[in-house]
Amino acid sequence: MAEIMDGRRLSEMIKSKVKKEVKALKRYGIDAGLGLMLVGNNLASRQYLKATLSGCKKVGITPFEHYLPETASINEILNIVGSINRDERMNGLLVLLPLPRRINYRRVVNEIIPEKDIDGLGSLSAGRLAADESTFQIFRRGDYASLYSPGHSPALSSFLPCTPFGVIRLLEHSGVKIKGKHAVVIGKSLAVGKPLSLMLLAKEATVTVCHKATQNLSHFTKQADIICSATGTRGLITGKMIRDGAVVVDIGINVLDDGAIAGDVDWESVEKKASLITPVSGGVGPVTIAMLLENTVRSAHNNQFLKHPLIMA
Ligand SMILES: NC(=O)c1ccc[n+]([C@@H]2O[C@H](COP(=O)([O-])OP(=O)(O)OC[C@H]3O[C@@H](n4cnc5c(N)ncnc54)[C@H](OP(=O)(O)O)[C@@H]3O)[C@@H](O)[C@H]2O)c1
Repeated sequence: MAEIMDGRRLSEMIKSKVKKEVKALKRYGIDAGLGLMLVGNNLASRQYLKATLSGCKKVGITPFEHYLPETASINEILNIVGSINRDERMNGLLVLLPLPRRINYRRVVNEIIPEKDIDGLGSLSAGRLAADESTFQIFRRGDYASLYSPGHSPALSSFLPCTPFGVIRLLEHSGVKIKGKHAVVIGKSLAVGKPLSLMLLAKEATVTVCHKATQNLSHFTKQADIICSATGTRGLITGKMIRDGAVVVDIGINVLDDGAIAGDVDWESVEKKASLITPVSGGVGPVTIAMLLENTVRSAHNNQFLKHPLIMA
C-alpha cells in the first residue's frame, strides 16, 4: 500500500511562509499584488481562479481580476497585458489557460514581461530554465534570504512554472531522492511536461519523456523509479505498468460527467504497488497554487530589492 504525498499539507506550509513574507513587505509599505486574467468562461479555469483568489486572501496578496468575454480580440487582450506590465500594483500576471482557440496563446504569454511572468510560460523564462539560469530555485526551499546571497542578482533570474516547481517541492518534501533516479515524465507540454523534465534533469535524474507518439509506454514506465503523468487521459497508468516501490505523481485532471475529478492514474491498481503516490485532489493541485503565491511574493521582493537593496538584506 502506497503512502500518500500530501499536497494540502505542503501547500499550507508554503502559504504560511508566504504570508509572513507578505507581512514583512507591508512593513516597508509594499503590497504584493497579483493580476489574474480570464478570457471566456472555461469551467476548469474558473475553479482554478476561485482557488487562487482564496489563496491570495489567505496570505494577504491583493488580487486584481480582469474578465474578458469569449469574443475578446487579441488586441484587447494584449492591451490589458501591456497595462498590467506597467502597473506597479501587480507583481505578477496569471493568464488562465486555455484561451479561446482563435487566440495565439504564445503571443499573449510572450507579451508578459519576464519580471511578471510568475508562471514561467514566456519564451525568455522557458529559455532561462533550459539554460539552467533559473534552476537555482529548486535547490532552495522557499528561503528568500538565500535568494539574495552575494553573487546572485535577482534581475537575472526568472520564475519557474508553478506546477512542475510544485512537483519538485512535493517530491522533496516527501523525502524522495531525485539524484541518480530514473524519472519518466509522460506529457511534453510547455506548461508541465517539458519544464518538469528539465527540472528533474537539473536535479540529476535520468529523464525519459513520453508523449502520444511514444510506442509501448509501459516499456518505459516499468523502468521508472519516479513516474510523473501529465496527460489528461484518465486511467492511462495502471498497476501493471509500474514496478514495485515506484513513486507516482499524478498531475492529470479529468473532469467526469458527474463533475468529479480524476487523474491519469488508476488509483486502485497503482496504489497497491507504488511506495508513494499523489491523490487527485489534494496532491499536486494545492501545491501549484501555493507556488504561484510564492512566485508572486518573490517578484514583489525582486522589485523592491532593485530599488532598495539594503533594506532587504
Ligand atoms: N494539478 C495541477 O495543478 C495541474 C496544473 C496544470 C495542468 N494539469 C493537468 O495536467 C494535464 C496536462 O496538462 P497540460 O497543460 O500539460 O496538457 P496538454 O498541453 O494537453 O499536454 C498533454 C500532454 O500529454 C501527452 N499525452 C496526451 N495523451 C497521451 C497518451 N495517451 N499517452 C501519452 N501521452 C499523452 C500529449 O502528448 P503530445 O504532445 O504528443 O500531444 C501532451 O504532451 C491536464 O489534465 C491538466 O488539466 C494539472
